[in-house]
Amino acid sequence: MVRPSFTTALAVAALAGSALAQSNAKGTRDKPCPADSPCCGLYGDCGIGAFCLGGCDITMSHSIKSCVPNPICKSGDYKMNSLDDVQDISKYLGDNSKINWQSQGKPLKYKDENLLLTMYEDSDGSLLASTFYVWYGKICARMTSSQGKGVVTAFIMMSDVKDEIDFEWIGADISTVQSNYYSQGAIDYTKTKNLTVDDSTKWHDYCIDWKPEELKWSVDGKEVRTVKKSDTWNSTDNRFAYPQTPARVMISLWPAGKKTNAKGTIDWAGGEIDWHSKYMLSGGYYAAGISSVSVQCYDPPAGAKKNGDKSYKYTDKAATNNTIELSNDIVVLGSLDGSGENPGEASKTQSSSQSTKTALQVPGAIIGGAHQDAPTGSANSGSGGNNGQSSGGNSNGGTAGGEFVQGLNSPASNSFGVSVEPGLGKVGGSALAIVVAILGLIAL
Ligand SMILES: *[C@@H]1O[C@H](CO)[C@@H](O)[C@H](O)[C@H]1NC(C)=O
Ligand SMILES: *[C@@H]1O[C@H](CO)[C@@H](O)[C@H](O)[C@H]1NC(C)=O
Ligand SMILES: *[C@@H]1O[C@H](CO)[C@@H](O)[C@H](O)[C@H]1NC(C)=O
Repeated sequence: MVRPSFTTALAVAALAGSALAQSNAKGTRDKPCPADSPCCGLYGDCGIGAFCLGGCDITMSHSIKSCVPNPICKSGDYKMNSLDDVQDISKYLGDNSKINWQSQGKPLKYKDENLLLTMYEDSDGSLLASTFYVWYGKICARMTSSQGKGVVTAFIMMSDVKDEIDFEWIGADISTVQSNYYSQGAIDYTKTKNLTVDDSTKWHDYCIDWKPEELKWSVDGKEVRTVKKSDTWNSTDNRFAYPQTPARVMISLWPAGKKTNAKGTIDWAGGEIDWHSKYMLSGGYYAAGISSVSVQCYDPPAGAKKNGDKSYKYTDKAATNNTIELSNDIVVLGSLDGSGENPGEASKTQSSSQSTKTALQVPGAIIGGAHQDAPTGSANSGSGGNNGQSSGGNSNGGTAGGEFVQGLNSPASNSFGVSVEPGLGKVGGSALAIVVAILGLIAL
């Protein structure tokens, strides 16, 4: 039904999107990324720099050291009412002691109350991803979905090897949120479950409670779905098809209903996006709201090897939970020319876009269609156009924030979601799905 085509569609969309990578190498498990472009990013493209940070898949990268270790879980109540703790992906080099959230697209600050993930006409929406990883924990987000056909909002947990736990809102149906989970990106259409929500464009609390033996989804404090690890044994793969590797928190708004996407994706999302819809804000974009994310880290699995307490490190390409150890290794790249194997020295010039390397530095496939023509090697200009500014997130938000306020006809802030109405989802959720889809294609 919709699912198969949906997944395929996403895969195609992802591959098409990554065409901005042009003839750039792709990584697969059978054919990992080459030495000069060692890191396989979330969407399958090989690169350096940001490709070696969040989303770098060791199973498809040149070596197990290409990707930097995953910064350890940080419990906290992250207020999403400013962009101070958000940095554009083209600026982040891996020092997560300074910044907890990475962005793609254009997150905006709404008053001092919350952030908006925006999706402007023909853009690819926006994505926020934590710079730390969670290896089991309770993760909650207070958010509003966007609305309108083709627009998808997502709150997901995504590991670098594509273990994934999802909440996804299809903008054509604001009374449903879809829940799902994946193991190492394997496509399985039978695991989606629709959950009921009373108007997702209003504020609700969504939680993922992820334990080694059991996974629960809840909405406004009410448990709505449980999956037990013991029910997920896959005898073909000889492992539990259960999310079990350190995962980042990702919240996104993305255009599943973009004309150029595969029909299955568009159908799943309720149709093509209307870029003149009443659900768009007068600033000219769809929006999803996020006001806080709370993270309660659980202990790593009892048997986990402990050689430190700063990061999680894969020790084997099997990438199951028993191949991950705790370590003290934190790798900060000197510039976007670096990789896990060769982090490099900090660049003396202000902009890494002066790199002479031809490898891609920042995954841009999913975000910003305008960047699809970005020449190889300058993909880092792709995320927000704020190169050369000291803090992408802040400067970005300042400008855009003005536009938003200008366009706001909002009543009381607690009904913010209503006035904002629909919006598109971004790649976040789909990122998972896309990864899944890509793996699926590869499997074919
Ligand atoms: C889940 O909800 C979507 C609409 O949001 C609908 O298209 C789909 O058929 C539903 N799936 C199931 C299994 O009910
Ligand atoms: C087990 O995994 C294989 C390969 O990933 C997949 O094709 C198969 O459908 C899975 N089986 C079950 C019962 O989930
Ligand atoms: C994680 O590893 C432990 C110890 O090897 C094992 O008992 C457990 O089943 C694993 N969990 C999953 C999800 O495979």
